Amino acid sequence: AADPRLQGISDAIRVVPHFPKQGIMFNDITTLLLRPGVFKDAVDLFVERYRGMGIDAVAGIEARGFIFGPAIALAIGAKFIPLRKPRKLPGEVISEKYVLEYGTDCLEMHVGAIERPGERVLIVDDLVATGGTLCAGIRLLERAEADVVECACLIGLPKFKIMLSASILRVTVSAIVA
Ligand code: PRP
Repeated sequence: AADPRLQGISDAIRVVPHFPKQGIMFNDITTLLLRPGVFKDAVDLFVERYRGMGIDAVAGIEARGFIFGPAIALAIGAKFIPLRKPRKLPGEVISEKYVLEYGTDCLEMHVGAIERPGERVLIVDDLVATGGTLCAGIRLLERAEADVVECACLIGLPKFKIMLSASILRVTVSAIVA
């Protein structure tokens, strides 16, 4: 049987049609954050999955990976690494570009965030659609010689499985609601 917490999580996410542009159905997790019990259920589901797996670091993707990632990191005793949009991090960075529906974007990570080769990392974001953003995160961490154990997202859009590029398939992507 499905975990009873999943329905509550799914129900608490608001879908906003035509945001930020015509034709996009935007999954808004801010409504879930207003319900502390449901917010806790979401964090707990991840913590239950990743606790005891020897995860050294949680890498959160800007912006909404910064909401869920630190809560998970603290609960499993891991450090937190922000993966940021360009020109936000003050220190020396490495960068990875990725393709969006229109144009490209980029994620950056501080050099030194991974302190030893083989550190075990969990990447966290709110949502996976094409997987392009997660791919850029994986590339950044692997360039720093981290071992990316898994990617965890609250929401996996139903189409995401067929759209994921081959390079991401080396890493499991788990999503708790569709
Ligand atoms: C959204 C979402 C993921 C990404 C997923 O962020 O939070 O990070 O898109 O899409 P993909 O799987 O097709 O790459 P967005 O790009 O809207 O940036 P934001 O968090 O800065 O708003």
